[in-house]
Amino acid sequence: MMTELSETPVLSQRAAYADMFGFKHTLNGHDSDEITTRKSRLFGRVLQVRGPAQFQELYPFLHRHLRTALDEDLTLGCLAYVYVSLMSPLLRRHHIHPVIFIQRKDPLPSDGHVVFRGNDGLIHAIITRRGAAMHLIQNTLIDAITGGMERLDEKPEITKLTLLHHLLDSTATDRTYWTPARLSQSILGLWLAASHQPWINLHAILIELCLRPEWQDALRDEALAHQAGDLASKINALPLLDSFMRETARVNSLDRVSIRRKALTDYTFSTRLLVPAGSTLAVSSYAVSRNATVYADPEAFDGRRFVNGCNGAQCKDPASRFADVSENHLIWGYGSLACPGRHHASFILKIVIVHIVTNYSLQLVDAEGPRWWAWEDFRMP
Ligand code: HEM
Repeated sequence: MMTELSETPVLSQRAAYADMFGFKHTLNGHDSDEITTRKSRLFGRVLQVRGPAQFQELYPFLHRHLRTALDEDLTLGCLAYVYVSLMSPLLRRHHIHPVIFIQRKDPLPSDGHVVFRGNDGLIHAIITRRGAAMHLIQNTLIDAITGGMERLDEKPEITKLTLLHHLLDSTATDRTYWTPARLSQSILGLWLAASHQPWINLHAILIELCLRPEWQDALRDEALAHQAGDLASKINALPLLDSFMRETARVNSLDRVSIRRKALTDYTFSTRLLVPAGSTLAVSSYAVSRNATVYADPEAFDGRRFVNGCNGAQCKDPASRFADVSENHLIWGYGSLACPGRHHASFILKIVIVHIVTNYSLQLVDAEGPRWWAWEDFRMP
């Protein structure tokens, strides 16, 4: 059923996210009900083939940037978290409609199907001053697409490593479909998709490391043992780091549901479940990550759970790496539309974590302080 949910064209991924994030207000009236695989194929080619092939070349630039940004900020003591609650009773009353369950009534059913609510254009218009920044970025992108990337303020040796370069290059012979307007719109969507999850996951990993100082030592030792030569080529082969990240994702379930799809027409599953047009369906990733037949003692945090892959008693999932797509690990979604940016996300998270554990010791300022708040099904730092 998970495969049917993820692969059926009239069960639309984009329409589900468009409703959730209010894209009709935020993305220039973009038609998110369009059924096309062209965008997914482009993202797949660029994010899963071309981009990862250049990770090693990109690494020195990313690492230098990380050192400058993070080390300077920490030295100056100006890193701060600002908590803004969007869940005020006022917002709840006027703009967030209740979640409706069309199959069961419990909030996170194991095979749950959930209908979400719309959003309000007025809030978007006020907060963003009618999308002023978005239009500025989009116009800059259109300028680069039509006039060449040398118009952008970036060094040529870096430009050729960027996703923007690959997106422009991959679509250059097909400007009839990939018009500057459509491509720039898709790039804005890509940025949005890439923008929040890596840092929420990083936050969770740093908290788990604070709670387990012995893991800071373990990850530091593992990274230092592989530092000789080129860490970039070995960063994906650090088993403790990968296992710790996957366990953090499993235990924290930062997005409690996954594989969101909106029915564009009435649809009957092969199991005879009828879904009316307009419904949004999803699977509880929270329940999946606590399935005791796959994960022994699922409530316990075990940083080594995935070190031995599916041969370990603690994990029966054959796909046991952080960046794997699996029905037992839904952080990336599932099927052909599973997150194409997962290799980038995993790579950059690993670079940041290795840099932090090899240069700093982590401790919570207030061990009892609140760590998370919730928006919809998301846990936010
Ligand atoms: C830890 C970080 C990330 C997580 C947990 C995450 C998770 C997801 C999930 C759950 C989906 C929906 C999949 C489905 O519906 O089956 C998705 C889609 C997507 N993600 Fe990610 N993602 C992350 C980082 C990134 C990054 C860094 C990029 C880009 C470099 C990216 C690009 C995309 C794109 C392009 C889509 C598809 C959107 C579309 O086709 O319109 N993601 N991601």
